[in-house]
Amino acid sequence: MQFFLDSAHVDEIKYALDAFNIDGVTTNPRHVQVSGKPFLTVIREIAKLVEGTQKTVSVEVNPYFTTYEEMMPEAEKLAAISPNFVIKLQCMEPAFKAMEALAKKGIRVNCTLIFSAMQALQAMRSGAYFVSPFIGWKETNGEDVHGFIDDIVAIRDNYGFDSQIIVAAVRNARQVVDAAVMGVDIVTAGLSVYQEGFQHPYTQEGIQKFIQFWDKTPYG
Ligand code: E4P
Repeated sequence: MQFFLDSAHVDEIKYALDAFNIDGVTTNPRHVQVSGKPFLTVIREIAKLVEGTQKTVSVEVNPYFTTYEEMMPEAEKLAAISPNFVIKLQCMEPAFKAMEALAKKGIRVNCTLIFSAMQALQAMRSGAYFVSPFIGWKETNGEDVHGFIDDIVAIRDNYGFDSQIIVAAVRNARQVVDAAVMGVDIVTAGLSVYQEGFQHPYTQEGIQKFIQFWDKTPYG
């Protein structure tokens, strides 16, 4: 399973690429705003970090653009900036036509803000390269996410759609592991989710115990 970093923070992305070889990056308008940089500036900086690799960077079209006519030129403009870019379109009816047209032009789309299996099915039918079901938001709302993700994986496999499933809005290591067990392709999460998940208190305790034994044992 691939690990993507959900961030537009250039230093964080650099760190995660170096420390644990993240497979890709996803951004959204919130991440870009938090970066403190203008949209085009920050996505160009992120593109540089993955230049010459197969790693994708998902960049989101202006959320005000809700018609096919508005989405298409913006998606094409963003895609022309970097071959690593996958264009995020919000899951809505005009976006399905746009993702089909963009796929024909060789432009990959990440269908974002997916909250039902029906939405994911239609995005896959429309040729989305990535489909991004958000689990964190649904859990906050008290909704089941296991059935949600299981359904999307089953639909993809039943019909052999090429779309890759990114489980998004992931908040903790348990959700990462659940996604892996359910057979999704990718999770995208913030740096702290990975860093906290890679640790365990018993590992730390074990290191301290072993240090004590080590200190009482001659080496040679
Ligand atoms: C995914 O592509 C989204 O950027 C992300 O997971 C959205 O969730 P969040 O901003 O609530 O973390």
